[in-house]
Amino acid sequence: METKTYRGMKYRRMGNSGLWVSEVGLGLWKWGDPSYDGSRIGEHDGFKILDCALELGATHWDTANSYNMGAGNSERLIGRYFKSRGSRARNMVVLATKVKNAVRDEHELTRDFSPNESGASRKYIIQAVEDCLKRLQTDRIDLLYHHSPSLLSDGSWETPLDETWAAFDQLVRQGKVLYLAVSNRTAAQLETESKTLATVAVNSSHRIIGVQNRYNLMDRPRVSKKEGEPTVADEREFLEYIAQMGISLVPFMPLALGLLTGRYRKGKLDDTGRLSEQAGEARRDEFLTDRNLELVDKLDAVAKRKGCSLAQLSIAWLLSHEVVCSVIAGVTKMEQLEENVISPSVSFSQEELEEVDNLTR
Ligand SMILES: NC(=O)c1ccc[n+]([C@@H]2O[C@H](COP(=O)([O-])OP(=O)(O)OC[C@H]3O[C@@H](n4cnc5c(N)ncnc54)[C@H](OP(=O)(O)O)[C@@H]3O)[C@@H](O)[C@H]2O)c1
Repeated sequence: METKTYRGMKYRRMGNSGLWVSEVGLGLWKWGDPSYDGSRIGEHDGFKILDCALELGATHWDTANSYNMGAGNSERLIGRYFKSRGSRARNMVVLATKVKNAVRDEHELTRDFSPNESGASRKYIIQAVEDCLKRLQTDRIDLLYHHSPSLLSDGSWETPLDETWAAFDQLVRQGKVLYLAVSNRTAAQLETESKTLATVAVNSSHRIIGVQNRYNLMDRPRVSKKEGEPTVADEREFLEYIAQMGISLVPFMPLALGLLTGRYRKGKLDDTGRLSEQAGEARRDEFLTDRNLELVDKLDAVAKRKGCSLAQLSIAWLLSHEVVCSVIAGVTKMEQLEENVISPSVSFSQEELEEVDNLTR
């Protein structure tokens, strides 16, 4: 696989495109204004981490219009960062954001939304991107995701697909968006959407180059080609399928919200982290199961033997798949970023890959 190196960080191409993304990026979901939006880190500490990320070449930054809790404050924080650091910083970053959800004004705590303030219609998409550009204080989005499929209760698409994809294509033609991607998709949905985009796009280079789905060592079968209960065979099929389509995977929740760092052990749960009781994470019970905590012990033993941390092992395992172009773990502390950026130097022998595979199937 062809890679490039910048400031010690390797870069991979996203899908069949010319866009290079850092192997370790930054997930900025829990960034915003912790005083009211449920985020875990604000501007004061956040800016120092963003400066450090640029120093370390971790330049693929992932956010969404609705982070956190529909407040839009993750984008606002990034916008203020670009404003304070200038165009050099902006140009170094591959800025990814997502639209689909409704967003409130700054400091607004509640709001009723009209049906056109979320979804996949032309009206929503064009307005949502204009709003993203304002919050991000930039004139273009490098990578725009449709955040999740807009479906009716019978599972059919809520908006005619050609309307949705013509709207995305228009934004690319206008230079407001450079590359397109989707999130939370099955391969069947990806295929239909890619075909639709090909029929409405003015230029064949306007295509879907990435898919962002949940994928980590705890959750492998969740990337699946099919609807319904996925299996390990489905996982392999999905990865092979998107590789064939020239689409990269950007795994979300790569560290299972911090579980795959060893901070939560049986009988000794970190009571300050994202999965602590006080953080109020809705997925806490789903992640902190006996099965998962036993797996943490086993994977940590593998990591210790290899001389790396469990977080580094987990990120390196994702990067061992060529179809994964970048790992965007969320961080809330400088040390976490410094630990995570070392991950690509962790390599696996065939036996070690099989061992991890057997443990996590
Ligand atoms: N497309 C989607 O629908 C979707 C859904 C979810 C997430 N995402 C994207 O994916 C990104 C990553 O997912 P995520 O942030 O939800 O979860 P994650 O990356 O699996 O976990 C992030 C958490 O792990 C902890 N952490 C990270 N590095 C660490 C280290 N070296 N040592 C110890 N702890 C460490 C931090 O916990 P503490 O906060 O406790 O310090 C951090 O908040 C998000 O930020 C977002 O951009 C997308």
